Amino acid sequence: MNDIGIGAIGLGRLGYVHALNIARTPSAKLIAVCDVQEELARQTAREFRCAYYTDVRKMLENNEIDAVCVATPTAYHVEPVTAVAEAKKPLFCEKPLADNLADTLHLAQVIKEAGILCQMGFQRRFDPPVAQAAQMIREGDIGKPTYITSFSRDPFPPPPWACDPNKGGGLFFDMLIHDFDLARFLMQDEMISIYGDETNLVVESEGIERFADNVTVSFRFKNGALGTAHASMHASYGYDVRGEVYGERGNLIIGGLHRTELTLCSPAKGITNPTTFHPQGKLPHFMIRFKEAYELEMNAFVDCVIHNTATAVNEDDAVQAFKIALAATQSADEKRPMTIE
Ligand SMILES: NC(=O)c1ccc[n+]([C@@H]2O[C@H](COP(=O)([O-])OP(=O)(O)OC[C@H]3O[C@@H](n4cnc5c(N)ncnc54)[C@H](O)[C@@H]3O)[C@@H](O)[C@H]2O)c1
Repeated sequence: MNDIGIGAIGLGRLGYVHALNIARTPSAKLIAVCDVQEELARQTAREFRCAYYTDVRKMLENNEIDAVCVATPTAYHVEPVTAVAEAKKPLFCEKPLADNLADTLHLAQVIKEAGILCQMGFQRRFDPPVAQAAQMIREGDIGKPTYITSFSRDPFPPPPWACDPNKGGGLFFDMLIHDFDLARFLMQDEMISIYGDETNLVVESEGIERFADNVTVSFRFKNGALGTAHASMHASYGYDVRGEVYGERGNLIIGGLHRTELTLCSPAKGITNPTTFHPQGKLPHFMIRFKEAYELEMNAFVDCVIHNTATAVNEDDAVQAFKIALAATQSADEKRPMTIE
């Protein structure tokens, strides 16, 4: 089969990373890039020697494009995702699918009705220590998982839209949504209730009406397992993403401060570092910390398109993670635990 031709929409922080990875993915070819900022689109196209567009639908007329990557700000996913579904092209879409529940449910339906493959940008599932932890849990290394915890701490605030819950941002929707997806993935169960809380203690709100620089959640799974998570945007020492899955016969510690590692604690095997990933001299930001995960998720997407196989994380996962983030936000508003559908 010929290489899969891909068009990349949105060339900001993450869109550029995806364009780069598409260009480097075996069996894929970056055919075109698209951004409403014409100069950015032109420059990026020059770098990757591909076509450029400022209009999504015009780009989709390019018949060398077999599949599309959408990395516009969350509040601007509806138009490109709808256009991609109408064009019946496989879709890679950044998380969250949309900035509100109605649009999230609508887009999931549009994707299903179009019958297209959809992979969501929950790259942490592809992070090597996470993928290995998931396998070890499946193989029973820690017995029944009973508790999960995670930290997602940015060294500084993301762009203003990503701090604003009214634009698809804020720490519940933009950041902890990764932790919610991972909790479902690693615990192999659905959350049924969540308690969320938020505060603003360090970072200037810059006029954003509802602004939090620290949030926490405490949640419960259907099978009775428990979890907590914390997100922040002022980790003065660097990007800090770690977690643990604690079970009846051990503990998996995912991530470390100086390198990204996976540690197993169990009576049978003692405390082991089965693998150490990416030794790093300092704490990296997300593009470095998840560099390999972003590459692996794009490889996986291309593989699914070539073989027409189901993606590992799809629109249904996007809907579920969004519902959890929404329940956490409502809980923080109402100061009481919320049930998750
Ligand atoms: N998976 C992750 O780790 C991760 C990390 C960061 C961001 N994201 C997600 O990626 C998406 C993009 O975030 P970002 O931080 O890269 O945004 P950004 O603000 O850095 O860049 C967005 C780009 O999209 C362009 N754009 C806006 N509307 C457009 C349209 N209608 N058509 C074409 N281009 C358009 C903008 O000009 C800009 O260049 C968001 O959904 C965000 O949640 C995911």
